[in-house]
Amino acid sequence: MLRSHTNGTLRSQDDNQQVSLCGWIHRLRDLGGLILADLRDHSGLVQLNLTDFGSKDPKRLKQMRRESVVRVSGRVSKRPTESINPQLPSGEVEIAVTAVEIFNEVQDLPFIFDAQVQTKEALKLKYRYLDLRSPQLQTNLRKRAKVCSEMRKLFEAEGFCEVNTPILYKPTPEGARDFLVPSRHYPGTAYALPQSPQILKQLLMIAGMERYYQITNCFRDEDLRSDRQPEFGQLDLEASFITQAWLHDLAQKICRNIWNSSSISLKPLCYSDAMNWFGSDKPDLRFALPAIDITTSCSKALSAAPPFADILSTKTHKISATFASDKIMNFSRKNLDDLITHMQNNHEHKTFYFKVAQKTLSGGIAKWITPELLENMENLCLEVHKQLQQADLATSSPSMLNHKTDFSHGVWFVSAVTQHHHMPDTVSRLRSYLGDNETKTQLKKPGEYAFLWLHSFPLFTWDDDTQQLSATHHPFTLPAIEHQELFFALHNDNANNNATAILSEAFDVVCNGYEIGGGSLRIYKADMQQHMFSILGLSPQQIQKQFGFLIEALRYGAPPHGGMAFGLDRIMMLLLETNNIRDVIAFPKTTQGNCLMSGAPQKLQDEDLKDLHLKHSQPI
Ligand code: AMO
Repeated sequence: MLRSHTNGTLRSQDDNQQVSLCGWIHRLRDLGGLILADLRDHSGLVQLNLTDFGSKDPKRLKQMRRESVVRVSGRVSKRPTESINPQLPSGEVEIAVTAVEIFNEVQDLPFIFDAQVQTKEALKLKYRYLDLRSPQLQTNLRKRAKVCSEMRKLFEAEGFCEVNTPILYKPTPEGARDFLVPSRHYPGTAYALPQSPQILKQLLMIAGMERYYQITNCFRDEDLRSDRQPEFGQLDLEASFITQAWLHDLAQKICRNIWNSSSISLKPLCYSDAMNWFGSDKPDLRFALPAIDITTSCSKALSAAPPFADILSTKTHKISATFASDKIMNFSRKNLDDLITHMQNNHEHKTFYFKVAQKTLSGGIAKWITPELLENMENLCLEVHKQLQQADLATSSPSMLNHKTDFSHGVWFVSAVTQHHHMPDTVSRLRSYLGDNETKTQLKKPGEYAFLWLHSFPLFTWDDDTQQLSATHHPFTLPAIEHQELFFALHNDNANNNATAILSEAFDVVCNGYEIGGGSLRIYKADMQQHMFSILGLSPQQIQKQFGFLIEALRYGAPPHGGMAFGLDRIMMLLLETNNIRDVIAFPKTTQGNCLMSGAPQKLQDEDLKDLHLKHSQPI
């Protein structure tokens, strides 16, 4: 060892000990006659007293610049009471330095990581290894490693076996574009990087492994967002002879373990309720704020209001309302107008508001709201809140709780759309806007987590653009047991009116508005899997080419099985309370998918292209 101790662990009990320490010069201070430095390693900081050493060897002292790597020798000495630094665990001692060895002298730094100094993210990403020296990122990476290690212990204890699956493989459809790796040996062919180990973990079930897990990287070429990376981590698992309830309990155990809280419960919420109440399949249930459907009860009364007249004259219209109380009253007229603009993302939709204060209505559409209409809306709102309470989904947020019988103070938002399927978007925009305007609404309590088990998803989603059905989760998802007859009755002529009504055995785990995991029971019979692909528009030839090996495997004794995957990065974001996914990944990509440090992806050389049997095309 080059050192006798680690810096952050020295205490007053070590007084008078001769030590050698290694690390980075964190800070150097010349206090006029007193020369002090902080020496940093992974364990923390310790103060060096360089006063005597500096007077003997001023040249070396000069080399001890910020972030230079050094070894120092000296004696631990207790600091006088007035110089004790209570902020530092080693703050009761300092090292009276007698010798210094410079391993690496730093001249200039591109930036100094310091919580007080703002540095552009692009610069920090270019010098990621410097940014990673900051205590916050160090903590994040260590916490991530700890979560992985706890997960391994939990999976082993539950009888799961870790199996590594290949990275160079065939496409596994998870809804994104594949990253492709051209093969040198087979001109014109390419491997696909796995979007997830989905097919392979199912094959492991067919192989009789019964319980598989893996902490693995997945690759998806999709539009990036603040909670998405092209390469991300999954806690992936699969098990045989299990039910969805068993997976729910396991997921709950996983969340309890990660959040170190035995009181966490993954509250069940079915997809259709989530969409009707919150307009989202990943609602943030730290606050309630549900929408109520007032189409039947209020259409007639509201069609007298000119702002709604156009929309309400259409047959397919729908009207919903949401009541927000308390803090919303802090919103200025401009805030409310901004919110309405945020919600009105298409011209087939209109939202208006009116305020209630001491039972008096004002603003927006107030003059068209009759007492009967208002009472109707209040009753419907109370009804939804009763349902939320029965479903154990009432929130603990002190503000904007709609289940209070008190409607005397707050703002009603009323939205009308011509096409009922636009409604969810409107509602979720309202909720996310109010949720994100935390300083004003205080909807979210710091440190609070609201977990959900979203279930009963539709098996298929209709895509207006491609005029095709697509799998809501992925094509290996088992249709809900009670809908399997309907599923087999579907035919592949694209006229599947009933298709989107068929539910699946898929589920998502949601926390604070993030989808942190998802999974399902799987199709384990060849004929059902084949039927699924054909409903999704694959020809028999395409099925054979892409998935023939899986269909064949399903014929050779596939057990009923299911599984799920948690998004490791999203979990870490929540645990570490950051909304930037790059904060929890050692070497992340930018939102444009490149690495500013290494310059990846890089332009291919002509020689590489030749080897891979590729040609440059003209940029389109
Ligand atoms: P799914 O596609 O839902 O399921 O992915 C599982 C979880 O992975 C996380 N996730 C991501 N995290 C960061 N960046 C991304 N681009 C990204 N994409 C997904 C999410 C998500 O819930 N094979 C199935 C699982 C299964 O059925 O067992 C799958 O991958 O948190």
